[in-house]
Amino acid sequence: MIHFYIDKSLDLIESRYIEYVSHKFGIPISYQQPETSFFLVWEDQRVALQSSQYKKPIVVNFESDQLLYRTKHNQGELIVKAINLKKYNQIWDATAGLGKDSFLLASFGAEVTLFERNPIIAALLWDGIQRARNNKSIVDIMQRIHFIYGSILDDDLTLPKLPEVIYLDPMFPERRKSAQVKKEMTFLQKVVGEDSDYGTLFARARALNIPRIVVKRSKLAPAIDNISANFSVKGQSTRFDIYLNHH
Ligand SMILES: C[S@@+](CC[C@H](N)C(=O)[O-])C[C@H]1O[C@@H](n2cnc3c(N)ncnc32)[C@H](O)[C@@H]1O
Repeated sequence: MIHFYIDKSLDLIESRYIEYVSHKFGIPISYQQPETSFFLVWEDQRVALQSSQYKKPIVVNFESDQLLYRTKHNQGELIVKAINLKKYNQIWDATAGLGKDSFLLASFGAEVTLFERNPIIAALLWDGIQRARNNKSIVDIMQRIHFIYGSILDDDLTLPKLPEVIYLDPMFPERRKSAQVKKEMTFLQKVVGEDSDYGTLFARARALNIPRIVVKRSKLAPAIDNISANFSVKGQSTRFDIYLNHH
């Protein structure tokens, strides 16, 4: 079990904030360095995921120059094409992760509901969203971002109004073997593990009968559950498979 490790004295506001995060996502607080390879820490006023193996902790930072650059220079972002933002702007990102794809989509005008079920990733994401909401330069983007802790597979979750597009980017088992996965993704894979129920997730998304489902795959991977897409949008290492519902 991953803990929230507190190794310094905190002021009242910080303590309250961490207690809130710990309670909301069911992450125990520990005042001694946990023996697990991963733990959350409070660093530079942010929730960060630290590892004994990786030097650089993971934080969700929607204010990063790299991400903001991408929002200002839409150099043919494949995902924008795959979703068809010209036609659709109500999106569910059913596998939010660190929220980068959702943030990009929202920056190009989409209204995005993000679902994340892993408590550690959800805590990082939720914290990143709180900070970004206080940043005037991206507040309009953040108003189009709606976070839900849970999964569209949860029986006890009341789903909001159905979207036009559902976007799926689960941790497919074969990702582990890809040499191209970035460090951050490798780190994430270790925490989240494999999303081996991706087939159920895809089936659930299809059963909702919305116009379009988009699945992110690595370029040469087979289609999800070997179900052929209507068409694909291909990049150098990534492919987006698009499933249309004509009914
Ligand atoms: C590869 S990451 C997504 C990365 C994301 N597209 C981004 O831009 O940062 C996959 C994430 O989906 C989450 N996930 C997988 N299946 C899920 C489900 N059924 N419901 C909610 N979250 C899910 C995992 O916990 C993991 O954090």
